[in-house]
Amino acid sequence: MTDSYDLYELEINGRTVNTPIALASMAGITDADYVLARKDNCGIAFIGGYSTDEPTIGAGKEMEKSGRAEFLSDDPIATIKEEVSKLKDSGVLTGLNLRGCEPQSFINVFNAVGKDVIYEIDAHCLQPAMVGAGAGEYLLKNTEKLAGIIRALKDAGAVVSVKIRAGVSDDDAALAAVIDDVGADIIHVDLMDFGTAKLKEIRNNCNILIIANNSINDFEAARDMFSHGADIVSLGRHADNATLSGIRAGIEVQAKESGWYNSPKQLCRGGDIRSLAFCCMPVKRCPLIPFLDKIGVSPKEYHDYKVESVAGTKLSPGESTCFGSLAWCCKSSTPCMFRDLSLKREQLSHREYMRSKRRLSEQIMKRIFDARKGIPAVSESDAEE
Ligand SMILES: Cc1cc2nc3c(=O)[nH]c(=O)nc-3n(C[C@H](O)[C@H](O)[C@H](O)COP(=O)(O)O)c2cc1C
Ligand code: SF4
Ligand code: SF4
Repeated sequence: MTDSYDLYELEINGRTVNTPIALASMAGITDADYVLARKDNCGIAFIGGYSTDEPTIGAGKEMEKSGRAEFLSDDPIATIKEEVSKLKDSGVLTGLNLRGCEPQSFINVFNAVGKDVIYEIDAHCLQPAMVGAGAGEYLLKNTEKLAGIIRALKDAGAVVSVKIRAGVSDDDAALAAVIDDVGADIIHVDLMDFGTAKLKEIRNNCNILIIANNSINDFEAARDMFSHGADIVSLGRHADNATLSGIRAGIEVQAKESGWYNSPKQLCRGGDIRSLAFCCMPVKRCPLIPFLDKIGVSPKEYHDYKVESVAGTKLSPGESTCFGSLAWCCKSSTPCMFRDLSLKREQLSHREYMRSKRRLSEQIMKRIFDARKGIPAVSESDAEE
């Protein structure tokens, strides 16, 4: 059996993620028993949402009265602890989807539950009672408040995810940049009807893990998310075992065959920022130079990032290729005898080649994001090059 780390190279909180599939929280539904019934087909599960303080518990009660299922408890921390302990040996990484108005509401849970789980801030709930209480979607319109909660959790030592709903903020690109800047580990985005263009916009503006969500119900839909910037996909309404296991099997085949389960499309085919790893030298009229311009990277910087990143690796040579180095070469799925000749010389299989390109893309991303901390670069329309 192939090791999950070898397939996906995904680690959160020091633990390998078995498969890049998450269960999305659904209040009143996604609890430990729900997760245990699906544990063989997911890598992460966000249980909840749980209301953690007086205003959100009050809002939850109102929501329940109007017919919504909720996980309500007068002692939410005791409930959460019990649920977390049921999942301890499940092999699934546990995340807590939490509603709260103040940093302290989240810190109280952290102090009781500890570092082993992911703390997901519910900035997604649109129910008027919750928004009126100052939680859920309210945080997307009041980013200073959201930033304060992220900071408090990070200072305490938590792994933090922020669950957002696309299209609520006036500027999702800026929101993604802020969430990254403040130190969150994960953006979990419900893309609503915006699809992969929005996902790409978020990918192009942050360098943290992205969980893509909404209406994913088969491997094709998951693959579309992966090739536009998602590291993980999450399922709510369609998270039955038949659907989950079909997606899991598809991703596993993709990872084994290609070597990079969420490789981006080429830039000229709609790829996101990671696809710079497959772009040519910046010498011709094509989408590369306008894209570099939009993300604030000069052609020389792009050139240097790539050359320096591949120095001393098997991607550095490439006599038979267009630009004399495999650094500038296309995806393995694009047939090319010249590239393959160089790969043969370097004794690199297509799978190893793609793994090396993943490393290259990580290094380019790091250089770009280190240099532009906090400056959102690519809006949605820009991303449509
Ligand atoms: C009944 C129900 C309850 C939900 N409760 C929450 C919640 O408490 N917190 C949250 O962040 N998202 C909540 N969501 C949103 C889901 O996590 C998910 O983002 C949304 O359903 C879209 O994904 P899907 O198409 O895979 O279902 C809820 C969704 C449903 C249907
Ligand atoms: S540099 Fe090459 S791969 Fe990149 S956009 Fe231009 S033609 Fe496409
Ligand atoms: S050698 Fe082939 S793979 Fe490399 S840049 Fe040229 S066309 Fe693309």
